[in-house]
Amino acid sequence: MSDIPGLLPGLEVVRQDFPILERRLAGDVPLVYLDSANTSQKPQVVIDAMVDHLERHNANVARAMHQLGAESSEAFEAARDTVAAFLNAPSRDEVIFTRNASEALNLVANTIAWAPTGDGELGIGPADNVVITEMEHHSNIVPWQLATERKGADLRWFGLTDDGHLDLSRVDDLIDEHTKVVSLTWVSNMLGTVNPVAEIARKAHAVGAVVVVDASQAAPQMPVDVQAVDADFVAFTGHKTVGPTGIGVLWGRAELLDRLPVFLGGGEMIETVTMERSTYAKAPHKFEAGTPPIVEAVGLGAALRYLGDLGMEAVHTHEKAVTGYLLDGLASVGGVRVLGPTDPAERGGAVSFELEGVHPHDVAQLLDSRGVAVRAGHHCAKPAHKRYGVQSSTRASSYLYTSPEEIDALVDALGYTKSYFKV
Ligand code: ALA
Repeated sequence: MSDIPGLLPGLEVVRQDFPILERRLAGDVPLVYLDSANTSQKPQVVIDAMVDHLERHNANVARAMHQLGAESSEAFEAARDTVAAFLNAPSRDEVIFTRNASEALNLVANTIAWAPTGDGELGIGPADNVVITEMEHHSNIVPWQLATERKGADLRWFGLTDDGHLDLSRVDDLIDEHTKVVSLTWVSNMLGTVNPVAEIARKAHAVGAVVVVDASQAAPQMPVDVQAVDADFVAFTGHKTVGPTGIGVLWGRAELLDRLPVFLGGGEMIETVTMERSTYAKAPHKFEAGTPPIVEAVGLGAALRYLGDLGMEAVHTHEKAVTGYLLDGLASVGGVRVLGPTDPAERGGAVSFELEGVHPHDVAQLLDSRGVAVRAGHHCAKPAHKRYGVQSSTRASSYLYTSPEEIDALVDALGYTKSYFKV
């Protein structure tokens, strides 16, 4: 395996942890998986942890008065401890399990919309505004559109510079004394840009606004310390952090979780219920109505322990090294326009690009015929595509198991695509 500075030590051995990477596709070509921003592949330890739970410990949590129930509850709550440690959260009670990052962000937007309004209150009213950015995933746009429309509040956003950064030149106009929420992505799933979230959080807190961070692309690839970033809520999803689908996380400051109204009503989120009214459990259970994603939480716990054993600093260094190699490779193809920063120091591992003269769907199809899996489309970030004058793009996204040879395979396949379309 070629060596470039910064690769994960023992990358070949690490790759063996992911059984799917052994697959050969039609035409007997090796799988080159460059769609990890869409969903990551899963190491054997995650698969084994989920199978073991289902085979030996399966029972509902927090309500089954038998040994299996106790084992299942213990495994589920141990996963919460693992998430709290992964995020450096001050308390495990600040970790709420959701179905995905979208649900986590909807939880915040909806409960803030329902909260009491007025001075010092969390709720948004007609005089207030919410600030997002033009590079958000639809999951961090639509919930705030719904919340501000419902409450008659103003929705504002940071625009983008030509080179794929947030345009911070109007920060003091956007974030003002009427701002109740600033919600932004840490790392863009389309442009790859790493945003200065701590700096923006300082501005937001100076006017008393709540800061929500979508860490869906950050949590897989860099250390996420919720105390250092100074956010109030941080959301991420399990399936991009080598964990399973069907589970996401919302971390929130205890004091704010106490003040927010409940989200979904149902089993286990209550303290008491009468036919007239109910009172509610404390966080995190207050926000976890119904049977939670139990085996998915167990899988997420195994995933985050796996990442912790590799070391998130090492994963981050690897991601930057591979992304630099990918950007150089794309530049060598000719006719490739990268959307977003071209300096690997300023970005994460999702690289969206256009190949001049070829539709992204055709690019993806031709790459697939060579075993190279990428995403083509708008990547749930239509406004960001519009900003750069395109409807869609091709996106290659690497991860901790990506090798330089896989980037070489992508570059070769792009050359083949150019010759096929004679561009
Ligand atoms: N949000 C995922 C992506 O960026 C699905 O591809």
